[in-house]
Amino acid sequence: MTCLRSVVVGCGSALPARCVTNAALAETVDTSDEWIVQRTGIRQRYLSDASETTSVLGTRAAKAALDDAGLTAADIDLVICATSTPDHTFPATATQIQAGLGMTGGVAFDLQAVCAGFVYAVTTADKFLVTGAARRALVVGAETFSRLLDWEDRTTCVLFGDGAGAVVLEARAGEGTSADRGVLTSSLRSDGRHREKLYVDGGPGSTGTTGHLRMTGKEVFRFAVGSVTDVIDDAFRASGTTADDLDWFVPHQANRRIIEASADKLGIARDKVVLTVDRHGNTSAASIPLALDVARKDGRIKDGDLVMIEAIGGGFTWGAALIRW
Ligand code: UT7
Repeated sequence: MTCLRSVVVGCGSALPARCVTNAALAETVDTSDEWIVQRTGIRQRYLSDASETTSVLGTRAAKAALDDAGLTAADIDLVICATSTPDHTFPATATQIQAGLGMTGGVAFDLQAVCAGFVYAVTTADKFLVTGAARRALVVGAETFSRLLDWEDRTTCVLFGDGAGAVVLEARAGEGTSADRGVLTSSLRSDGRHREKLYVDGGPGSTGTTGHLRMTGKEVFRFAVGSVTDVIDDAFRASGTTADDLDWFVPHQANRRIIEASADKLGIARDKVVLTVDRHGNTSAASIPLALDVARKDGRIKDGDLVMIEAIGGGFTWGAALIRW
């Protein structure tokens, strides 16, 4: 052994019970199925009821990931929940998930990087595992973005949905090559000058209210396609791999057009792209683990496959991680 690697040993997900199609949404919002599908690729999304909070969905996804790994809560010593829609301002949703799992040990905290949250959380958990600070981590992306939506604003309310996904990462010996299983490399960036392009107009330190999501969609689109590919190039360079070596590209699921334009720019074949935005909408930090779970369970992602995850979120924050499953 020359190093420790954070190996994915299980994944799981959870969705609210209520699925809302574009046609159903068009009954109350001035929009159409045709517009939403053509501009975004979204066909439906899941919207939570009052009982389906972020911690409830996150706990369900975490339990499913533990079952998939054949582990119990006692085997976990780190829980990171990526979310921008915590049940409460504090305590951290991760601690609610910890309690929901019946975990009495370890450490649990939230991480807030909006839609890039899951990539940030995987990267953070990886640092704990490869330094020996933790042995097994639950990394959860859980959101109830419907709580932040202004249902009078058709330019944003049709885009988002609720849900949660989780992976279990376990520290295992590696050789230090790109043939190892586990997180091979990751690259994170942020640039706070872009705040006004995607933000929530409230918070405990400003208005004292939760606020609503505000977005200049065109500018986010332009940045997502134009700039965020730098972190993917970083990951390829650091691991000595190329787009041809990838088995699966699992990007944040915000918009089909952004995903396909990014894949084309990076030379990633369209048939290697996992697309779930059609069925989930944009679930922010939950979108990548939801997509990973879909592609794992339907047999696409197999042990040994090389998987690139990538996301951009408010801030802006963005990042990519290369994982051998
Ligand atoms: O995860 C966080 C990252 N967020 C994103 O990645 C979102 C990035 N941005 C986008 O995905 C796209 O910019 C949108 C899907 C949000 C919008 O697509 P667009 O092609 O940039 O449309 P647009 O904003 O230029 O709007 C075009 C037209 C406008 O009408 P006019 O002014 O041309 O007459 C809008 O009023 O579409 C109209 N429109 C709608 N029509 C029906 C805007 N929203 C809707 C709607 N239904 N929901």
